[in-house]
Amino acid sequence: MSADEATRDGAATARRKPPWTATVLTIFPEMFPGHLGASLAGKALERDLWALRVLDIRDFARDKHRSVDDAPFGGGAGMVMRPDVVDAALEAAKAQGPGPAIYLSPRGRLLTQALVRELAAGPGAILLCGRYEGVDERVLEAHGVAEVSLGDYVLSGGEPAALGLMDAVVRLLPGVVGNEASPAEESFERGLLEYPHYTRPAAWRGRKVPQVLTSGHHEKVRRWRQGQAERITEERRPDLWAHYLKDRDEGEGREP
Ligand code: ADE
Repeated sequence: MSADEATRDGAATARRKPPWTATVLTIFPEMFPGHLGASLAGKALERDLWALRVLDIRDFARDKHRSVDDAPFGGGAGMVMRPDVVDAALEAAKAQGPGPAIYLSPRGRLLTQALVRELAAGPGAILLCGRYEGVDERVLEAHGVAEVSLGDYVLSGGEPAALGLMDAVVRLLPGVVGNEASPAEESFERGLLEYPHYTRPAAWRGRKVPQVLTSGHHEKVRRWRQGQAERITEERRPDLWAHYLKDRDEGEGREP
């Protein structure tokens, strides 16, 4: 066994609980793990730091054409995923995978870093990916499915959103990101957007790196970065800035 394999083996033995598990329901199983397989998340998947199960919704269809959708009651464009088919798929997913059932939809609660952290702290998630116009409302109600949106725009389906959600969660899992300190410093983790970064060369096309960064004075660097993060957040995201100020003011009033 190589040193690398021994480390992996040790990590697997030391871990008592099963890894964070994504159970994906989709009519495009070939879209998974997709880009995740080529990145940090792919390596973590190989190392069993998380697990991915993919169920093809078509396997739960009842007719010989394997249809999963039908025309909407009340008329209108597009097709709707059938409740009986999605129900059977969700039942199978719940029997296999832990965590809340989430339907990826532009109608859902916005996926924030706070929600990503909440999901990463749990055992996993069941991710229902819709295509067509959507999923019959009754099956979402019956299974207590939560809806989550990646942003205020419409994707062609839930699959790219599920991949985005998994990417955001997996990088927070223990052992996935090499430098454990970095997630705490990045955008959103402290309620602020990130400060600007610079590397060599110190002068590039007549643009110099801010002098404080080459001063070697750690406290001054820290203060400069904090100031920059605040400036950028105030300029670009007044919504986050208002939140940050509120939290900061409330924090100041609190007993230590
Ligand atoms: N499916 C289609 N658009 C979506 C979005 N913005 N977020 C999550 N799922 C989606």
